[in-house]
Amino acid sequence: MEKIVILTGAGISAESGLGTFRDEEGLWAQHRIEDVATPEAFVRNPGLVHGFYNARRAQAVKANPNVAHGALARLEREFTGEVLIITQNVDDLHERAGSQSVVHMHGALNGALCHDCDHRWEAPLVMRVGDQCPQCSAQATRPDIVWFGEVPYGMEVIDPALSTADLFVSIGTSGQVYPAAAYAQHSGRMGARTVELNLEQAAYSRDFDEQHYGLATEVVPAWVAGILADRH
Ligand code: APR
Repeated sequence: MEKIVILTGAGISAESGLGTFRDEEGLWAQHRIEDVATPEAFVRNPGLVHGFYNARRAQAVKANPNVAHGALARLEREFTGEVLIITQNVDDLHERAGSQSVVHMHGALNGALCHDCDHRWEAPLVMRVGDQCPQCSAQATRPDIVWFGEVPYGMEVIDPALSTADLFVSIGTSGQVYPAAAYAQHSGRMGARTVELNLEQAAYSRDFDEQHYGLATEVVPAWVAGILADRH
């Protein structure tokens, strides 16, 4: 059975109003990674880190999936083979668009984690320092986000998927953060055809067999329509 593995980044949620990281107005232009997105930052100033993720969580609940998320959900419904989305994004727009096979390798804004007992639960809209874990009551709750220096989630699913993909498609990512930045090369070496759908050429565009540039809301639905047409 044919298998399509899709990697998405902040670019697919940009037209839903959620900020990217490395564009001009990106999140890393407004905040220093070492202040809000590392385990050390959380130990040093948990209130600042909670504030950063509370703001992003509030934005994510107000955002709506766009037609690019919708096109990937259509692909999963109508494609006769297998479709897996590996997302670097922490919003839930893929799921709200109807995609079911989604791996959040960098965690999720709607998840909370206890770093004492590893219990996970649905995050409240606002997380605060001192919130108690519902399981062990420790005041050790944190956003269930994979920070820089931590191990991404889902590697046990991602690695085999990359090795068995027939088609690997990267959408809306600048390809600057590992391990995701190496996925195109890895799946290509294992025999997949690799396609980049992005706003503009990125540093790692040369890793791909095929590229389509433009807004995700234009390029992704067109690409999905082409894939489905080729197989009917
Ligand atoms: N349509 C398609 N692509 C877009 C759009 C759009 N409307 N707007 C921006 N892009 C592209 C940019 O050109 C860029 O290539 O999306 C990409 C966004 O890149 P980044 O901001 O670096 O985001 P991403 O690649 O997802 O970052 C990866 O870095 O900071 C960590 O954990 C964070 O998951 C994130 C990871």
